[in-house]
Amino acid sequence: MKGIILAGGLGTRLRPLTNVTNKHLLPVYNKPMIYYPLGTLVEAGIREIMVVTGGNNAGDFLRLLRNGKEFGLSHLHYAYQEGEGGIAQALSLAESFVDDDLLCVVLGDNIIEDSIRPYVERFKEQGRGAKILLKEVPDPQRFGVAELGPNGNVLRIIEKPAVPPSSYAVTGFYMYDSRVFEIIHTLKPSKRGELEITDVNNGYIESGSMTYDILPGWWTDAGTIESLLRATNLVARKCRGSGIED
Ligand code: DAU
Repeated sequence: MKGIILAGGLGTRLRPLTNVTNKHLLPVYNKPMIYYPLGTLVEAGIREIMVVTGGNNAGDFLRLLRNGKEFGLSHLHYAYQEGEGGIAQALSLAESFVDDDLLCVVLGDNIIEDSIRPYVERFKEQGRGAKILLKEVPDPQRFGVAELGPNGNVLRIIEKPAVPPSSYAVTGFYMYDSRVFEIIHTLKPSKRGELEITDVNNGYIESGSMTYDILPGWWTDAGTIESLLRATNLVARKCRGSGIED
């Protein structure tokens, strides 16, 4: 299975912090933000990883992560996203890297308490289609939100709904088969001018090949001032709890 970290975008919601650097290089407690999604993939047993980034500071990722030695990797792959065409557009840059393999995508600003290894293993057994990870949150209107049917099946996902159909946010951990690239090629830009990952997920739901799991531990994004502070506090508490300070 291949791992893809999406770390492009402009990080406008974090200005002025992102005026001269990329959001994913900002600190979350004692590490740069990008360390968390990369650590999550490596911990899940994924060794072949591509970082997709963009903007003026793309070179800093190479200087920071190099070949991934600090994470026990011998090699890291990089792709450059021109502009900010959306999460699905950023993912499309990994097509030749993924080839016919399964893939696990992590948004570069998503941080999680626990391991995703059990879900990765389950998806490998599933072998095709897609899997998303849901988390119950108090503010679902900030995210993609799952509408669940009477049997607990996902009927569809709605991106940042004014009136959320449930409190289950779609987290930024997505597992796909290589058909994801065919789906992305059919997408049209949304009202905000982006190729939306929610449209990709709805494609899998429509073809009946989407499964999901619910995350038990905490999960947060770090793309706004409020959520960056929350991420820092959650990580700090986790590190102190385990006695790890460096
Ligand atoms: O955090 C989970 C949420 O992430 C999901 O619930 C939503 O369904 C999904 O659309 C996304 O929402 P956001 O509006 O928070 O996404 P954002 O634009 O902040 O992008 C998240 C990450 O994706 C960002 O850290 C870097 C990457 N990205 C984003 C864009 C727009 C790219 O690599 N390229 C891009 O063009």
